[in-house]
Amino acid sequence: MDGLKSAEKEMADTDAAVRETYMAHYGDFQHEIYFGGLKGVRPKLPVDTKTLEARAEAAMSPDLLSYIQGGCGDEFTQDRNVTAFHDWGIIPRMLVDCTKRDLSVDLFGDTLPAPVFMAPIGVIGMCAQDGHGDIASAKASAITGLPVMASTLANDPIEEVGTAVGEGVGYFQLYTPRNRELAESFVRRAEASGFKAIVVTLDTWLTGWRPRDLNTSNFPQLRGHVLQNYFTDPVFQSLLEKPISEDPAGAIMTWGSVFGKNVDWDDIRWLRSITKLPIVLKGICHPDDARKAVDEGVDGIYCSNHGGRQANGGLAAIDMLQDVVKASGDTPVLFDSGIRSGSDIGKALAMGARAVGIGRPYAYGLSLGGVDGIVHVLRCMLAELDLLMAVDGFPDIAALQAAGVRPVRYAK
Ligand SMILES: Cc1cc2nc3c(=O)[nH]c(=O)nc-3n(C[C@H](O)[C@H](O)[C@H](O)COP(=O)(O)O)c2cc1C
Repeated sequence: MDGLKSAEKEMADTDAAVRETYMAHYGDFQHEIYFGGLKGVRPKLPVDTKTLEARAEAAMSPDLLSYIQGGCGDEFTQDRNVTAFHDWGIIPRMLVDCTKRDLSVDLFGDTLPAPVFMAPIGVIGMCAQDGHGDIASAKASAITGLPVMASTLANDPIEEVGTAVGEGVGYFQLYTPRNRELAESFVRRAEASGFKAIVVTLDTWLTGWRPRDLNTSNFPQLRGHVLQNYFTDPVFQSLLEKPISEDPAGAIMTWGSVFGKNVDWDDIRWLRSITKLPIVLKGICHPDDARKAVDEGVDGIYCSNHGGRQANGGLAAIDMLQDVVKASGDTPVLFDSGIRSGSDIGKALAMGARAVGIGRPYAYGLSLGGVDGIVHVLRCMLAELDLLMAVDGFPDIAALQAAGVRPVRYAK
């Protein structure tokens, strides 16, 4: 037992050392790359998302790629999520001492080294060569200190993901089941596994219309993927007529019958009553919904349109962020959808987001390089953000937020 404890401590010390080396000044990553070049060493993975995605396209199976890359309808909204960042700009300030930058922010009782987290990705498990991408993302959190939002849809049960988070920070993303006993069981398991917030996703009680996946009849859950949190749950198991090993198809059908609750305010009040963990609502884009959530005692608002995978409504999530921030008052607002670079993160922060979620890009990094691939993606995004802040005169996030953003006017 003592041996186990000291091994655990050694691992924690190693994580802290790696974190120190990797993340001292995020922008220093470019020195490592340029000096490496003098020895003939080039980065193993591309540093920009576009090239990274192109490399991942060649590495992933067609079904997995379609599920990750695809979105709702003709994917106008998902594309707008990305291009809308070009409509916003940051005005640089000069003659400001930026030789030291502090990117840290406080969130739900923790001081994070930077305002960035891994957004929940239900098939992240499948993106790893060994099928354990949920564990890999948790390890990336341990290394970087940046939070991972672990999806309910996972290849590894929440207890194992929580253990792998170690010294990192984990939030549990809840797809609220129709069965309240099962919902409560998930919350209790998240609490017991050390997760520090419950993130309730509101926009995915059913699946949006996704032509890429529909054209190939491709839905991973129906093939039994990413259902481990259900299959290991005693409440879920009690709903089955036969053990999963004897009737896996029956277990998948039972999953289908409990998966999607169209969550309402009563459900939020109920969740509030059963846990002391901070509750975050994911998928809020309208300021009135944000105001109501704050009034209901929610601890965090998560502005996101699910990366345009769920509805092809047309508006980019970033174009709704400022109104949501205004309506949320002092309640922290998280943001994702369309983040592809450090500059994108900077703009979302300047609009008032407390922390910004990386989605698809870390799935590409994982598919190409495992845990190191995820860490690489995070380091690249943070290096660009850090250097933007250094060049543009923002020594900390508060300075960036005070500056805000301006709409870009393109000359015709
Ligand atoms: C393949 C895939 C699976 C996802 N699974 C989940 C999930 O399980 N839970 C959730 O709340 N959001 C899920 N999302 C949405 C992300 O959390 C995030 O909102 C989205 O990826 C942001 O868009 P972007 O990746 O284009 O930046 C998923 C996104 C993708 C691409």
